Amino acid sequence: MQLFDVYPLYDITPVKGKGAYVFDKEGNKYLDLYGGHAVISIGHSHPAYVNSVTNQVAQLGFYSNSIKNPLQQELANKLEKVSGIKDYNLFLCNSGAEANENALKVASFYTGKDRVIYFDNAFHGRTSGVVAVTDNDNIKAPFNQNHKATKLALEDTETLEEELKKGDVAAVIFEVIQGVGGLDEASSAFYKKIAELSKQYQSAIIADEVQSGYGRTGDFFAYQKHGIRPDIISIAKGMGNGFPIGGVLIDKAIEAKTGMLGTTFGGNHLACAAGISVLEIIEKDNLVENAGKLFKYVEEKASEISQIKKVKGRGLMIGLEFDFPIAQLRKDLLYKHQIFTGAAAANKNLLRILPPLNLQKQHFDTFFKALKIALD
Ligand SMILES: Cc1ncc(COP(=O)(O)O)c(C=O)c1O
Repeated sequence: MQLFDVYPLYDITPVKGKGAYVFDKEGNKYLDLYGGHAVISIGHSHPAYVNSVTNQVAQLGFYSNSIKNPLQQELANKLEKVSGIKDYNLFLCNSGAEANENALKVASFYTGKDRVIYFDNAFHGRTSGVVAVTDNDNIKAPFNQNHKATKLALEDTETLEEELKKGDVAAVIFEVIQGVGGLDEASSAFYKKIAELSKQYQSAIIADEVQSGYGRTGDFFAYQKHGIRPDIISIAKGMGNGFPIGGVLIDKAIEAKTGMLGTTFGGNHLACAAGISVLEIIEKDNLVENAGKLFKYVEEKASEISQIKKVKGRGLMIGLEFDFPIAQLRKDLLYKHQIFTGAAAANKNLLRILPPLNLQKQHFDTFFKALKIALD
């Protein structure tokens, strides 16, 4: 049987990971400045994480959500403590798309409304509701076309109010810093306006922190810098350091009803053990702080390279905008210098850097040295 062929693949087969590095089957060592799409938060094969996951699978890997699983509450408590957010409840699921899909459902149940506002260049996932609020027609099948979804431009408060005024908007969903779209971030004034208008017209606001959350930007959640309180926050990627786990943080004012949401695998024992271990390591090793302070160093190093026009993002969610399309540069970095980086869908000149949160200056020194050679 062949695999359903949907991914463009690099001709590399990683078989091992350690910290900020992965190793292929020939023993070549690669610096991972992409973290497998921003997933690797605490570094590959962190020993404490390996221990926790190993011990848990030896004990009990899975049982369904029909029994008590105290690990779920332990994860919720730890997340509250490490993130600093208060008065939310946690629903556990398995991926970013599923987190957003559930976030939209909760908003719709809560408001009794059915239309969703999203923004230019947004990416919220590939399942039916969330692909409908993703700005990429190539990944929407006819089946996905019938959701009530309205796309707006960031910073356009006037149209936002006109749309909310119509009274049928269940939610406004946004990535606080866009990932796939190319690292754009609206102003605090705009985020505050979304919050204010949503309250006025009884819609919910959903912060998609699937990529920007879990410490990546130097705050636990990227929205925390903007002085807003989302009704719903979706999380995934860095949460399990590669173990598939996602979640929805739901304001306590929104009441749960039995059967309102559900999943077979979500919140299973092994996923919780991975999630708890990630939070313990983020806390113990001050990884949020580490992510925050490295950005300045990257800006300094980038200023020495004339072809870099702009450094976008925050913390370790970085976009280097060049004055030319970077597809070939990315390949050179990978095949000639053994460095993984990422690209953006909406901006062909943007090189994305999403490394593990325990990266050090020396790794950026290696990167910028290689970048200079590649550019020459
Ligand atoms: C901001 C954002 N939301 C949602 C998703 C979807 O997550 P998943 O691929 O885990 O379904 C992604 C994935 O890249 C993302 O970047």
